[in-house]
Amino acid sequence: MRIHQATFIKSAVKPADYPPPELSEIAFAGRSNVGKSSLINVLVERKGLVRTSSTPGRTQLINFFTISGECPPLTLVDLPGYGYAKVPLEVKRQWGPMMERYLAGRETLRAVVLILDVRRIPSDEDLQMLDWLRAYRRRPVVVLTKCDKLTKNERAKQITQISLRLDLPREELVQFSALSKEGRDNVWKAILAALEE
Ligand code: GTP
Ligand code: MG
Repeated sequence: MRIHQATFIKSAVKPADYPPPELSEIAFAGRSNVGKSSLINVLVERKGLVRTSSTPGRTQLINFFTISGECPPLTLVDLPGYGYAKVPLEVKRQWGPMMERYLAGRETLRAVVLILDVRRIPSDEDLQMLDWLRAYRRRPVVVLTKCDKLTKNERAKQITQISLRLDLPREELVQFSALSKEGRDNVWKAILAALEE
């Protein structure tokens, strides 16, 4: 999948500040520091389109990007992460309502990519996010990232555990690494399938 154009549009907290709902939209969710921004950069083949950071909790706003190329014109949305203890209380307080307004109300939202660290058993917050997506009838695409950090054996074991914990078949868990770019095509495939639903 070649992307010819990728542009940052704007950051927003509330719906009045979202870009007009014109293009189909794909959002990326997951805990702080899991690798949401890195995944987006690999999907669009732009190293610095989305700022990545070793400091968890950097993305606190809803960030909108538009892309075009071999894919249909799309808006990609980098959502603020959850689960990072050191985020200021005020930021934590606004996170829930901000996400709820977006997930419940965004009419052009077609799928949400939920990103999980392949090395970790999904937390209660990860499970809550999955439940939340289902409650709002948002189709989840589950991606296991940082696969480069495990051996083949370790990875297979983790996928079994994660699949049990999420109650999802392992075939539905897309294996990915932003470092090696393994799984990029499969993430794209899952996104395009979600767009066709
Ligand atoms: P916040 O915006 O702070 O919530 O983080 P994020 O989920 O956007 O994560 P980000 O993409 O900024 O990545 C966090 C850290 O993990 C960075 O140091 C990345 O280089 C690293 N990282 C992300 N994906 C991978 C991966 O697939 N493999 C490895 N080894 N490191 C990764
Ligand atoms: Mg980020």
